[in-house]
Amino acid sequence: MSILVTGGAGFIGSHTVVELLNAGEEVIIVDDFSNSKPQTLEAIKKITGKDFKFYEMNYLDREKLEKVFEENDIDSVINFAGFKAVGESVKKPLAYYHNNVSGCLILLETMKKYNVKKFVFSSSATVYGTPEKIPLTEDCKTGGTTNPYGTSKLFIEQILKDLYTSDNSWDICILRYFNPVGAHESGLIGEEPQGIPNNLMPYVVRVASGELKELSVFGNDYDTPDGTGVRDYIHVVDLAKGHLSALKKLDKEGKGLFIYNLGTGTGYSVLDMVKAFEEITGRKVPYKIAPRREGDIATCYSNPAKAKEELHWEAKKGIKEMCEDSWKYIQKNKNKI
Ligand code: UD1
Repeated sequence: MSILVTGGAGFIGSHTVVELLNAGEEVIIVDDFSNSKPQTLEAIKKITGKDFKFYEMNYLDREKLEKVFEENDIDSVINFAGFKAVGESVKKPLAYYHNNVSGCLILLETMKKYNVKKFVFSSSATVYGTPEKIPLTEDCKTGGTTNPYGTSKLFIEQILKDLYTSDNSWDICILRYFNPVGAHESGLIGEEPQGIPNNLMPYVVRVASGELKELSVFGNDYDTPDGTGVRDYIHVVDLAKGHLSALKKLDKEGKGLFIYNLGTGTGYSVLDMVKAFEEITGRKVPYKIAPRREGDIATCYSNPAKAKEELHWEAKKGIKEMCEDSWKYIQKNKNKI
């Protein structure tokens, strides 16, 4: 029995595939390299010493997707395929809804057709909109997302809830990621944003390497200890392991629709991250204070207790590994990115 991983060559997908292969699982990857590279697949093989089946295709291609289900004995699906750039989603809402929502619908319809009903979905803390309370628990209200990317995650969560209500033989796990950073400790796989990064850590890394001049800190007048935005950064390898725990839950305890926050439960400010990065890597990160970024909130971090209790999972890696591994990846891959 195999696990189908859509978007398995991407940032979180590739790290999850490594953990699945290391745990002895059979993996099938579907990816169209729209935001990833073929070299990542070679790197996964190098890290794990294991092989997997790969289909280069867009998951919106129903015919090809059906062929994947026909040719393989698929037991469960983890869906990472999707566009994720917040700013771009505001400019191209139709492309985002089509790729993220229609793609997921086609995937679920195909699963239904082939009677595969175990599904793990990559959601995001963005579905909480402006947090009702901090730390965020899974029962906090959702909605009020500020961009089509976030809204596409919210729509898919609702589709999954409706699907489960209609047929409770589905086993569904929705994972709400906080802020994924870091890279595999080998330095062979990591995050490769195209163009100028939007997210904090990739930007910090490129300033430290001299590729970008300085970081703009978006606002220092928030109601936080140092005035800059506070987030729950989580190492991508910890996040990847959360997917194995989710699958285990669906395999062993099964039957249900479950929602978990995947975060550390600790909030760091932008300046905390800059200082930690400088201390850990010995590189300077010049920055200037800039106006607030539209749509940003002051503070967002998780209460990860439910995942600890029910998935027996918790984040183990701290800010040191997050900074070290992000830096190591860009050092190793400087000329290839
Ligand atoms: C963003 C997205 C969120 C998505 C997540 C994926 C927005 C509004 N939200 O979250 O939907 O799920 O990425 O990881 O874009 N910052 C700077 N300077 C920078 C970049 C960021 O000061 O150049 C600050 C931000 O203001 C924020 C913190 O760093 O306080 C983290 O920002 P970022 O990495 O973009 O993540 P989020 O905004 O939390």
